[in-house]
Amino acid sequence: MNLDVFTVFPTISTSFIVISAVLVAIGWWQIIKGKRNAHKKTMIAAAVAALIFFIVYMSRTVFIGNTSWGGPDDLKVYYQVFLIFHIVLATVAAVFGITTLVLGFKEKYAKHRKWGRVTAVIWFITAITGVAVYVLLYLLYPGGHTKPVWEVILGA
Ligand code: HEM
Repeated sequence: MNLDVFTVFPTISTSFIVISAVLVAIGWWQIIKGKRNAHKKTMIAAAVAALIFFIVYMSRTVFIGNTSWGGPDDLKVYYQVFLIFHIVLATVAAVFGITTLVLGFKEKYAKHRKWGRVTAVIWFITAITGVAVYVLLYLLYPGGHTKPVWEVILGA
């Protein structure tokens, strides 16, 4: 595959989703083992990785543009439904993740436990569907590119 300006950023952002999900899995395992301090550090690192994903993803959407579907037309609708599912999950995961972090810092552990479990599972599914979108868009069916937001706004 070629690593041009259109593919390098999605590759970086997808890597950070995967890193973040792996850290959440490690952090969960640590708390099951009773390692509270390690759990806290690992989960903060997972949140930072998620934040980096978001910053890279948003910047490339604004400055470079998104990639349009490059596969067969009859698969397009399935891809779109899948993509929307992934985006909704990622958004829910962000809200749940912030809630979980706040509950952790406030030491409201009973609630934190409940939210944490749901957040972790949603984040795992977000990472898996994110990688699937990446494979479809960049490895299986390399797509075309739409315009960056700033070009649309300035009419460039
Ligand atoms: C988004 C980040 C986080 C996620 C996804 C998360 C997830 C979890 C999960 C799933 C559990 C329950 C484990 C189980 O019983 O199966 C848990 C427990 C716990 N978490 Fe987190 N956590 C996060 C951040 C934090 C932070 C920042 C702190 C500390 C400030 C923290 C402190 C704790 C503690 C002390 C427990 C044990 C609660 C108890 O003993 O009842 N967590 N977390």
